[in-house]
Amino acid sequence: MKQNGDINIRLATADDLTQIVSYTHAIHQQEDDQSIPTHTNFLSNLEKWIKEELKNPLSLILIAEIVNKQGNKAIGFIGSTTLINDNGFLDNPTKGVINFLWVEKEHRRKNIATQLVSMIEDCFKKNAINVIECSFTKKNQLAETFWASEGYQIQSVIARKILPHD
Ligand SMILES: CC(C)(COP(=O)(O)OP(=O)(O)OC[C@H]1O[C@@H](n2cnc3c(N)ncnc32)[C@H](O)[C@@H]1OP(=O)(O)O)[C@@H](O)C(=O)NCCC(=O)NCCS
Repeated sequence: MKQNGDINIRLATADDLTQIVSYTHAIHQQEDDQSIPTHTNFLSNLEKWIKEELKNPLSLILIAEIVNKQGNKAIGFIGSTTLINDNGFLDNPTKGVINFLWVEKEHRRKNIATQLVSMIEDCFKKNAINVIECSFTKKNQLAETFWASEGYQIQSVIARKILPHD
């Protein structure tokens, strides 16, 4: 049985929607360099998308929570999905993608993200998916360090040019 202060990892449910939107928004704020304007309905569109992800059979969202006497409290999450690109070029057309990962600041460096990633990797493995990708912005040094520690190597780089309006 879990003790006070233990970490529990479970599947996200529709009840976690507000929490996941808030974490995802925090990641966006951290990563956004404002070079591309966001939609005026960004937050409600984000909520709609996450609602769909929670129902998507190809997607998996896990919540890390801390066990305490008052009840469990969410402290982080990971969001992933499976992409199928059946163009006949690859032996295995499926690929795992980790879209989001967030652990609250006061709970970092306790291996929580590593546990979340490991559970997602196990799940992909069970489904015969052995390629997993994630992406992060150039300025997110923390993400680069973390993903490198998990064995993820940078394989491609996106170059962007913003054209001025006429
Ligand atoms: C990146 C993030 C998810 C890591 O979560 P975490 O639970 O603290 O990570 P872990 O404790 O599992 O760290 C695993 C390893 O990653 C590396 N690492 C993690 N945070 C680090 C830091 N601040 N400085 C240097 N190395 C770090 C270390 O090698 C660490 O192993 P160690 O603690 O044994 O040295 C967390 O910092 C976070 O939520 N950041 C903001 C959101 C974000 O950038 N997400 C990723 C892009 S979507």
